Amino acid sequence: MASLSLQLLVVLVLLGCGVCGSGASDGPVVQTSHGPVRGIFVEEGKTFYGIPFAAPPTGNLRWRPPQPTKPWAPDIYNATKRSPICIQAACGPNYPDYMGQCPPAPETVQGEDCLYLNVFVPNTASPKSKKPVFIFIHGGNFFEFSAMGIMYDGRFFANKTDCVVVAANYRLSSLGFLRAGTGKDAAMGNYGLLDQVAALQWVQDNIGDFGGDENQVTLFGQSAGAYSVLFHLVNEGSEKLFHKAIVSSPPIGLYFRSQLEAIIFGNDFAAILNCSVGDMECLREADASKVAHAQQAVQSKLVNPIHLIELAEPWGPIVDGDMISRQMVESFSTGNFQKKPIIIGTNTDEGSLFIYGGLSSPLPTTRYQEAMLAIFKTSAFSVLKTYPPSNTGDERPILSTLATHFIFSCPTRNILKSALKNGHSNAWMYVFAHPIPGNDDAWRRFPFCAGKVCHGTELAFEFQSSSLVKTSQYKFTPEEQVLADSMAYYYGNFAHTGNPNTPGNRLTSLRSNQVLLWPSFGSAQNYTNLVFDVPKNSVGQGYLRDKCDFWDEENLYP
Ligand SMILES: *[C@@H]1O[C@H](CO)[C@@H](O)[C@H](O)[C@H]1NC(C)=O
Ligand SMILES: *[C@@H]1O[C@H](CO)[C@@H](O)[C@H](O)[C@H]1NC(C)=O
Ligand SMILES: *[C@@H]1O[C@H](CO)[C@@H](O)[C@H](O)[C@H]1NC(C)=O
Ligand SMILES: *[C@@H]1O[C@H](CO)[C@@H](O)[C@H](O)[C@H]1NC(C)=O
Repeated sequence: MASLSLQLLVVLVLLGCGVCGSGASDGPVVQTSHGPVRGIFVEEGKTFYGIPFAAPPTGNLRWRPPQPTKPWAPDIYNATKRSPICIQAACGPNYPDYMGQCPPAPETVQGEDCLYLNVFVPNTASPKSKKPVFIFIHGGNFFEFSAMGIMYDGRFFANKTDCVVVAANYRLSSLGFLRAGTGKDAAMGNYGLLDQVAALQWVQDNIGDFGGDENQVTLFGQSAGAYSVLFHLVNEGSEKLFHKAIVSSPPIGLYFRSQLEAIIFGNDFAAILNCSVGDMECLREADASKVAHAQQAVQSKLVNPIHLIELAEPWGPIVDGDMISRQMVESFSTGNFQKKPIIIGTNTDEGSLFIYGGLSSPLPTTRYQEAMLAIFKTSAFSVLKTYPPSNTGDERPILSTLATHFIFSCPTRNILKSALKNGHSNAWMYVFAHPIPGNDDAWRRFPFCAGKVCHGTELAFEFQSSSLVKTSQYKFTPEEQVLADSMAYYYGNFAHTGNPNTPGNRLTSLRSNQVLLWPSFGSAQNYTNLVFDVPKNSVGQGYLRDKCDFWDEENLYP
């Protein structure tokens, strides 16, 4: 370690980095546009935690687009410690974070001042190396979790893919998505998405100095983060800032809110803060802890609690007529998306986490039928024919299946079909089918997920970071290690060459004759996909064909 850092210092001094010698310490130092940052050496390379990519969005900057950071040069920024996470109900002192979606408990600080990112650099990178870059956007329904989460420590992913990995926070809940007021002081919502754009811009401006290539950026997200990646694929302002996309488990069946819905919700939120409608001064002056309370409390005022989106995603993207002008399924069907190489996939049981998480007791048949009527109205009869109640006294299993298909798998197939129809063939679909091991502590909080491939299961295999998650430290079986490495192989190839099957000249422990060829979605005209599983992956055709044909025909997507 010490000799490595010495080498680096020598290199930096030779490159003329004036300040790098000062305040000598033993971490790697990199120049950024705002000043030098010092990170830490780890076995897999270098880690830089908590670099600011925008000014603290506090005070008068609350509910404003992200603003530039103040430079700190010639001081060296201490990037050895995770930053505060954005304000949320999760990740508090008593929150059981089994999966590692929060920072290590003693380090967890929440705050409005949360626009920071982490950078993970593989050992093979050097100042001129131009390694491809991953930017990861975390999930959590736009109201929880953080890039600072232990699981999202990208050092292993960087090592296995031979890429530079960046993970950025973005504003959550009301602070990220409030729509209130009028005129130039109004809160227009979608600030969380603008924060992500700012992080993409930071990568363009700075990643070269970390050995990354700003012209080879793969945007990668899971759940709400996956929905965010799709947003960037349709957002003009993001277009030049990334080149490829990996989209894991996007909840496309949840729609973007209308202005009107968002305004009503925003007014309810203001009322809890004792602010009159549209009084932005009052809202901006409210104490952050009161805001935190109000953004939780307002969720009990949901207009229509049966509406799927309001349960799963009370705060989130808004159709603002500017950045977002239509729903995702429509953007793709009308060809309004960037035709960049894309990998997109879902897990076989996305729904259980939400259905069992939300309904702690059995769901009687009549309540299931009522819910279908409320959600699908005139189509409820055909939905119930396709997803018939079991009449066993608990309809949660069938409702979970329905949620998996309607919210995740089928709209995903739908946008892929649209992509193909619009002449976009660089698209690969996966189905992640390996269940959570029953003995994994990480999932203890969700006993109903034992043996199922719940939402988020694939993350542990992508990041391979469970050795850092103290509550889990789940060890892969040899077969699971092969599965995890195959994901790193395909994703790494994709980041390097735009094709999951082509390694280019990257460093990888696998060779193309050791892994299955992953045909593109349209190659056999039969909805081709790769099934990630143990003992080995396989190529599938026509995943959920009948069910997804049903949803496509009913045309019930938002
Ligand atoms: C940087 O932060 C680490 C972790 O908090 C701390 O131990 C160290 O003393 C800091 N270094 C400097 C130069 O401030
Ligand atoms: C990954 O780590 C292994 C073992 O430490 C090392 O041999 C390899 O060079 C690393 N690869 C990269 C891309 O950092
Ligand atoms: C709003 O006013 C009520 C009644 O005066 C008070 O109980 C409550 O604490 C106030 N809420 C906030 C967030 O200040
Ligand atoms: C298409 O997929 C289905 C499975 O859904 C399979 O039965 C059929 O043989 C496939 N057709 C071709 C031409 O591969």
